[in-house]
Amino acid sequence: MKLVFATNNMHKLTEVSAMLNADISLLSLKDIGCTEDIPETADTLEGNALLKARFVKQKYGYDCFADDTGLEVEALAGAPGVFSARYAGEGHDSEANMSKLLSEMEGTTNRKARFRTVVALALGEEEHLFEGIVGGHILYERRGMAGFGYDPLFVPDGYSQTFAELAGGLKNSISHRALAVSKLAEFLSTLRK
Ligand code: IMP
Repeated sequence: MKLVFATNNMHKLTEVSAMLNADISLLSLKDIGCTEDIPETADTLEGNALLKARFVKQKYGYDCFADDTGLEVEALAGAPGVFSARYAGEGHDSEANMSKLLSEMEGTTNRKARFRTVVALALGEEEHLFEGIVGGHILYERRGMAGFGYDPLFVPDGYSQTFAELAGGLKNSISHRALAVSKLAEFLSTLRK
């Protein structure tokens, strides 16, 4: 079965490919010759993931899935959420995003937050959504060098290290993205039974 993952992030592609059954041949946007910027104009993670998956399905004819992730902070009413990548502006600058988050949370003792990933699958005439959530809290300062995005500020529940401190592939195996993709993998495996 050929399936497009609507991403050009090779790191994500390798990680996700390892979680799917070997009989799925996973293609990137580059593999299908899609070089245009796919609009991400929805105001929810679900909306953006669906926009991307539908775009590929409708324009290129391939079954496709797409992901969208946000950091949702309880004391900020779910912000930065769908705007996580561009919280501090269109530069998609992680350092600036973390600085903005710390300043918005200054004086806030409720540090509860969660990462939420939504995967949308456009398969034939059907659409399906899969969600992965990891709860945790936001520190008062950065810790750790690994990972990306808000990782140095986020401590997942059940751990004392931040995502940026967790050794090796541990973060990738417990992450919000891994949870959503494992639900997708389970769904795809039921199609073959
Ligand atoms: P995307 O939907 O995977 O592109 O994620 C949107 C934004 O959320 C990224 O630009 C990061 O700022 C943030 N983000 C997503 N996943 C993670 C993660 O695993 N750790 C830290 N930040 C993340």
